[in-house]
Amino acid sequence: MEAKWWHKAVVYQIYPRSFKDSNQDGIGDLRGIIEKVDYLVKLGINTIWLNPIFSSPNDDNGYDISDFRGIMADFGTMADFDELVMVLKKNNIRLVMDLVLNHTSDEHPWFLEARKNKDNAYRDYYLWAQGRGGKEPTNWESFFGGSLWEHDVRTDEYYLHLFSKKMPDLNWSSSKLRNEMYEIANFWAEKGVDGFRIDAVVHIDKDSSYPQADNPGGRPYVMADYYYANRPAVHDYCQEFYREVLAGKEIMTVGEAASATIEEALKYTAPEREEFNMIITFEAISFDIDASLNPAVPPKWTQKRPDLCEMKRVWMKWQDGLYGKGWNTLYWNNHDVPRVVSRYGNTETYHKESAKMLATLLYFFWGTPYILQGEEIGMTNVAFAELADYRDVEIETFYREALATGKVTHDQAMAMIHARSRDNARTPMQWDATPQAGFSQVNPWMKVNPNYQTINVAANLADADSIFYHYQKIIALRTKSVYSDVITYGKTTLLLADDEHIFAYTREYGQQKLLVVVNFFETPQVVDLPFDVQSIILQNYAEVKQSTKQLTLRPYEAIVYVVQ
Ligand code: GLC
Ligand code: CA
Repeated sequence: MEAKWWHKAVVYQIYPRSFKDSNQDGIGDLRGIIEKVDYLVKLGINTIWLNPIFSSPNDDNGYDISDFRGIMADFGTMADFDELVMVLKKNNIRLVMDLVLNHTSDEHPWFLEARKNKDNAYRDYYLWAQGRGGKEPTNWESFFGGSLWEHDVRTDEYYLHLFSKKMPDLNWSSSKLRNEMYEIANFWAEKGVDGFRIDAVVHIDKDSSYPQADNPGGRPYVMADYYYANRPAVHDYCQEFYREVLAGKEIMTVGEAASATIEEALKYTAPEREEFNMIITFEAISFDIDASLNPAVPPKWTQKRPDLCEMKRVWMKWQDGLYGKGWNTLYWNNHDVPRVVSRYGNTETYHKESAKMLATLLYFFWGTPYILQGEEIGMTNVAFAELADYRDVEIETFYREALATGKVTHDQAMAMIHARSRDNARTPMQWDATPQAGFSQVNPWMKVNPNYQTINVAANLADADSIFYHYQKIIALRTKSVYSDVITYGKTTLLLADDEHIFAYTREYGQQKLLVVVNFFETPQVVDLPFDVQSIILQNYAEVKQSTKQLTLRPYEAIVYVVQ
């Protein structure tokens, strides 16, 4: 496979609203990012993915865009953006922007026009349909809960919105609309952006005959992915996007592809097909969801204990399935999922050990790593007592609909919000132990996690054994050590497939071989290794382990060996 810069990218995801507030209005901003570039250099990352920074009424924190060429006033100005690009370039950090192709804000001028009347020139930029029997055209469910249709009184038609009703979906079968979107992407490419993360892209084509979905569970609306995800035309549009925007440029692309199978992932990422470089799939992070636990709520709000053997099977399916044919992404966290150390680690007794174990396990696999801001200091989920302290639009709808079923109490709904809500990943970055965690000097747009006095950047930097320095080591091993190629390009082989507690695998490339072995749980485990190991290049306990064929791994212990 031809070497590309993004094979060795380590991506740091910045959620701008929550990263750093430079002007004391309680909202993170572009100048806040500029202030913290030195911190990112110290960590060693070489690429940033910025969540959307475009003009937006902020129904969904910037994913509802009202002007694709403007900077959101809360975040600063175009001059601030240009300066950020310059400062990042000077520090050899590449910039990946979030491109939202699937929908706009309902306050976007196109939609304001489109909804005026059926003959409007912008009408077919969006998806409209007539009601059936006085109800919505279909029983399809929005990803944010409730129907994905909204009735519009002016023309007595419904418009389709996969996300909130303030986010109408665009009609990609219109070539005029597609060209508008390519021009927008080219506008940012010309500004010097190095990559695009393409939001919700698998959904840009829908079955416009709008069939009813099967609904065995009897909830009022149901997910019907097959009518609006990974349909064949999506690939035609991706290839057209490639020709119109990407061809001839060294721009990295990562498509958000929630429900993609391996077969679909290969279509998106095989270089010869000229679609994307890699995708973000959800399968590899959904082990603690179990829809059968509570049929009254959408699956994402349920939670079970993950089964490590199942996790191994799924991880290896992705490692093997794309190897040599496409490219993979590695992530535990993003702004849409609860924090991993709260899900699979132990934030009380083994906070450091478990956070380091999780990082070690994940980031030695094959693929491009994505680290969510705060992950590198072990930030955790939050449990606000009041619903009013939450900000995510999805939570409101969830709470209302869950209680309306009559099968979920207030306390149960709050417990689900504590465990599963997206706001867990979005609380302000914890910089130090001063009020508001050094994020801002005023009350922030969302409350700071009360554990900021112990979990923060300053404390991490002052402790040579911190989670931060463990991330720093992993990143250096991946990007600038003698092991960089084996970590980047090596073949992955799973060991001990049936062990319910230990996750172990090797990476092999040319003459080099690494062994990663971790105890995923907090009871000590004895492991018999199938071969001799040589030296240790990374570990999460202070005392050095002797090389031996039999190991006893302590709670959440993680070791990376060189194999003879
Ligand atoms: C993606 C984003 C998510 C957003 C949604 C709608 O899934 O990651 O945050 O709410 O798209 O744009
Ligand atoms: Ca601000």
